Amino acid sequence: MFVYEKKLQYPVKIKTPNPKLAAIIISQYGGPDGELGASLRYLSQRYSMPYPELKGLLTDIGTEELGHLEMIGTIVHQLTKNLTEDQIKTAGFDSYFVDHTAASMQVKGDLIADLTEDLAAEQKARVTYDNILRLSDDPDVNDVIKFLREREIVHFQRFGEGLQLAKDKMNAKNNIYFYNPSFDPSV
Ligand SMILES: [Fe+2]
Repeated sequence: MFVYEKKLQYPVKIKTPNPKLAAIIISQYGGPDGELGASLRYLSQRYSMPYPELKGLLTDIGTEELGHLEMIGTIVHQLTKNLTEDQIKTAGFDSYFVDHTAASMQVKGDLIADLTEDLAAEQKARVTYDNILRLSDDPDVNDVIKFLREREIVHFQRFGEGLQLAKDKMNAKNNIYFYNPSFDPSV
């Protein structure tokens, strides 16, 4: 169950429309390293996660990613608000590449595979935000993107702790190859 709080996690107040930048940023809405895939991934991985601490971790981060989805949607909306059809066409926003696909969910049902996926996903999201910062010179946009980038770093660290906790719980502390001892007890 979710309770909705009617405010953004971090305020978005963009003064200058910029459909070219919006066309880049919209990839973080539902694209391959985007917030929609991240939230659905973590919220879905919970069902096969055997340990309550790690279920809690996935719930916390998956919920926060939904909040990030809202922020990305707001950024794109403010960057394209009140533009004329001509302005949208001239900027190329009318034909932006739509890369949104459910394939980005990536849920395997194995805790080691899933948590390792999550670590990579956070790094990929962080790199995408790095790239947006390289392309954008709007301080209003960059302020929000920097906040989102920082959160990806925090999530990466928390998933790292989660992976260590999973390995400890599986009583395989020297499990440097990240195998799942419930399947490979003799490895
Ligand atoms: Fe994240």
